[in-house]
Amino acid sequence: MKSQEHDLIIIGGGPGGYVAAIRAAQLGWNVGCVEKEKALGGTCLRVGCIPSKALLESSELFSEAKQNLAGHGVRLKGIELDLQAMMRRKDQVVNTLTRGIDFLFKKHGVKRYEGVGRVVKSRTVVVKSERGEIELKTPHILIATGSKAATLPEIAFDREWITTSTEALAYHAVPGHLVVIGAGAIGLELGSVWRRLGSKVTVIEILDRILPEMDGELASEALRIFKKQGIDFLLGKRVVGVRREGEGCIVECDGMQSLSCDRVLVAVGRLPNTDGLGLESVKVERDEKGRISVSDHFMTSVGGIYAIGDVIRGPMLAHKAQEEGIACVEHLITGYGRVDYDVIPNVVYTQPEFASVGKTEEELQERHIDFRKGIFPFTANGRAHTLGRAEGRIKVLADAKSDRILGVHILGPRAAELIAEASIAIAFCGSSEDLARSCHAHPTLSEALREAALAVAGRSLHN
Ligand code: NAI
Repeated sequence: MKSQEHDLIIIGGGPGGYVAAIRAAQLGWNVGCVEKEKALGGTCLRVGCIPSKALLESSELFSEAKQNLAGHGVRLKGIELDLQAMMRRKDQVVNTLTRGIDFLFKKHGVKRYEGVGRVVKSRTVVVKSERGEIELKTPHILIATGSKAATLPEIAFDREWITTSTEALAYHAVPGHLVVIGAGAIGLELGSVWRRLGSKVTVIEILDRILPEMDGELASEALRIFKKQGIDFLLGKRVVGVRREGEGCIVECDGMQSLSCDRVLVAVGRLPNTDGLGLESVKVERDEKGRISVSDHFMTSVGGIYAIGDVIRGPMLAHKAQEEGIACVEHLITGYGRVDYDVIPNVVYTQPEFASVGKTEEELQERHIDFRKGIFPFTANGRAHTLGRAEGRIKVLADAKSDRILGVHILGPRAAELIAEASIAIAFCGSSEDLARSCHAHPTLSEALREAALAVAGRSLHN
């Protein structure tokens, strides 16, 4: 078998793995990255964040053209959906970005191995592909293999009618009735896409609320807005079975009549990808949820083997994996590297967007932390009105004594971009007073964040 040597071998070329590879190469290491798919970029670039955002953008434009442009004085006639063109555009966006990572690997001298990687000894990875096997010797192995869609015991995916998000990003036709199981980020984002394109969408959620990780008060407001957009919700309902019937499916829930629909999207969370990696043979320990157990510096129970991203504890988010990848290799190479887990923003790209960083009110109450809260609605923000997007509000939570910002939650236009200011403020241990005293350009949406910070001390100017 052919053999190569590297300072570091990364298994997985998703956001966590490819960024770790680039950073380690920047710091002078000879890095190899093993990826089983043709394209680098992992779930996020190929079948997750990027294609879903491309479709969210396209479907939003379609819905705007149909519903709102006339209000701007722009009259269009004969608006039609060309789903194939929309899908082609999405694929082009994905191709451009995945090819971009190939370019970055070349630029930084990262060696890419195409094939399935398996740890055979603590210092050896074997890569298997159609071309045969190659052995990679290295003192450091980083596992960044990400996650896959979870299912429910009573549901079997058939990839055509009963699907994961991967298929829901590429339906060939707009489903007449789409049932989405799970009101998390994936369910709501893809449910929004197909609703805007004309599907009847029913979201079934086991809890009595949507987006369980997000601030409860704003999640209730989001629910009201999504219902207004025509999405139906069945909350507090457990799906007990899904079966195929004719050209569609029947969804059975506890305590209610079964639903017939054209397609089902199961979005009930994700599971770490740890199978087939040879972890048992080298005795890498996993926790009760099947995630790889790691130290603060991402070392597994076996010296020289590290893990980051969706395969370890914490939220399954691309940017969290990237932070961990950077921190892991910086710690290995320079002796210093850490992730500030208090500053990992979370964004749901619905309309309006929903973004959050730091603690929710519920978490602060659970931990008995005294806080003050400032709320500012987008109805009182000039820029939101000019955009025709005055829905939602911002909530700033600050420590009752020190005024340090503990959490910021934004339901509103461009919340995904606005949350960055809040993240920086928290990272710099800023107070609500710091935000409130910083001049913000007028007219901007960011003024609403300043106003919410002012509201912490009861002195918002426009509300
Ligand atoms: P999720 O964990 O965010 O939400 C799953 C939802 O399904 C929960 O509300 C849960 O209560 C519900 N559920 C579980 N079992 C159920 C059942 N039997 N019947 C009905 N409902 C049930 O998972 P999701 O949306 O699949 O996302 C997976 C991961 O990917 C998450 O960690 C998420 O944060 C991440 N992600 C992030 C995105 C973003 O940042 N914009 C976009 C998409 C995914």
